[in-house]
Amino acid sequence: MQSRNMLVKCFIAIYCFSFVNSDGPVRSMTTFFNPGCETQKCPECSPGLAYIVSKGDNDILHYIISAIGGPPSALVIQTNKPKGKYQLQIDCRKIASKNETERREAIIKPDGVKEIYSFGVVFTRLFQYNDTADKADINYYNVNSTAWRVYDFDVFEWQDLSMWSSNDFIVMKVKNSGEVIDRALYNGSLVLQFHLFDHSDRSTELPHLQYDAESTQIDFTLQDIDTGNSSSARWGLETVLLGQDSAVTPMSIVTKKSVDDEYTPGVFQVSNWLTRPRNEDNGGYLQWKPVCYLKSARARSVATKVETTGLSSTEYIDSFLNSSILYSYFSDIQIISRYATNFTFGLEKDGGFTKTNYTSWTAQLGYGAPPMDKVSSLVVGVISAGLGIPVVIIMFGGLFVVIKKKTSKGEYTDLDSDQSTIQ
Ligand SMILES: *[C@@H]1O[C@H](CO)[C@@H](O)[C@H](O)[C@H]1NC(C)=O
Ligand SMILES: *[C@@H]1O[C@H](CO)[C@@H](O)[C@H](O)[C@H]1NC(C)=O
Ligand SMILES: *[C@@H]1O[C@H](CO)[C@@H](O)[C@H](O)[C@H]1NC(C)=O
Ligand SMILES: *[C@@H]1O[C@H](CO)[C@@H](O)[C@H](O)[C@H]1NC(C)=O
Ligand SMILES: *[C@@H]1O[C@H](CO)[C@@H](O)[C@H](O)[C@H]1NC(C)=O
Repeated sequence: MQSRNMLVKCFIAIYCFSFVNSDGPVRSMTTFFNPGCETQKCPECSPGLAYIVSKGDNDILHYIISAIGGPPSALVIQTNKPKGKYQLQIDCRKIASKNETERREAIIKPDGVKEIYSFGVVFTRLFQYNDTADKADINYYNVNSTAWRVYDFDVFEWQDLSMWSSNDFIVMKVKNSGEVIDRALYNGSLVLQFHLFDHSDRSTELPHLQYDAESTQIDFTLQDIDTGNSSSARWGLETVLLGQDSAVTPMSIVTKKSVDDEYTPGVFQVSNWLTRPRNEDNGGYLQWKPVCYLKSARARSVATKVETTGLSSTEYIDSFLNSSILYSYFSDIQIISRYATNFTFGLEKDGGFTKTNYTSWTAQLGYGAPPMDKVSSLVVGVISAGLGIPVVIIMFGGLFVVIKKKTSKGEYTDLDSDQSTIQ
């Protein structure tokens, strides 16, 4: 009876521990749509801007997410937490302005608000290529060796952001990828979702990324696209990560391996693209697992690979950065630290995008040391039980032998004396 009680208590402890896991600092978030616009529905601010203030104990994270005037972007500014006014003065009409000076005055820090760090992500271009050789490798083809479509995100038209968004869930859906014939991204066939968090936990959706109060998960989805005659269509998503430091500051992609695929079956890696590899606690990151899904009901059976082509400089796409909302904050955007990569989707023989007409991938943008998968307390519990039982058996077994030995000492002595008599 005693031991059964112990076992029950032990399980309760393990069970509780697995909830303690999801604790951590909690922030308080407030969201504004189209700040600077009285009615929140200024046509000048189309397709809309979201400003999220996330207050922590010692600092404030300001998120500005928008595709106004340029490619879809997210800017994160970490500031101190002053006594007085702490909200940034953001005017979405100035951000949308064609006038250089107005764009430069669109995001203002009130007196007393000091920047600690700032960084952001910009999605610049989308490449569709015909994977005739089924290599799932964008670098395998040059401009002439296969059919390409290049979608420049700065000419996209987007649906009104506030139409689909809620306070912690900012949604960008494409309306039209531009007026060029043979290009076919319409009506939500490309969706970018930014899910902001004010606490730590693990995403309920595959790949079940661990998030914290400083992170935002970004879902990128392509669906129902007429890929034309490219019967073996695949995609590359060109992405830029920027940090406030000077351009000489290197960034790096660090891939960590794990022995445990508990949360993302079949996936044993996580990659972190760090803006400050030598000081990751005070830098930004983009994190992902090398997996995307070919159906909206995500499952291991419809999973395929995500790869990056490595970091490169951005000179040839700096015009995209100039048209992005980040230009309104970084007056020196051409001399800060910024790198680009292509994320590519798919694996040889997986049928490519065309097979299901769907690809969805999740990454995470955040501040500070990137969250890491820890072996869950359930697994720890199971392992300890697995290891514990033999240990208990060995201990009790050993004890039993010792006791047995002690109580039957006489016999052994007899045996010994027998032997000695034989000798
Ligand atoms: C794409 O590749 C397939 C073979 O994989 C070929 O049949 C098709 O004609 C190609 N389409 C274009 C537009 O090149
Ligand atoms: C997109 O939606 C609009 C309005 O619902 C519709 O008129 C148009 O035909 C759609 N375009 C495509 C390519 O499906
Ligand atoms: C993918 O979806 C588009 C739009 O609905 C459609 O025109 C196209 O034929 C589909 N392609 C395939 C291979 O099913
Ligand atoms: C696709 O193929 C058809 C028939 O072969 C051809 O008429 C059409 O021009 C092709 N379209 C493109 C975009 O290559
Ligand atoms: C992404 O891939 C395209 C097509 O190969 C290439 O033109 C572009 O330079 C690549 N971008 C980066 C950042 O590597």
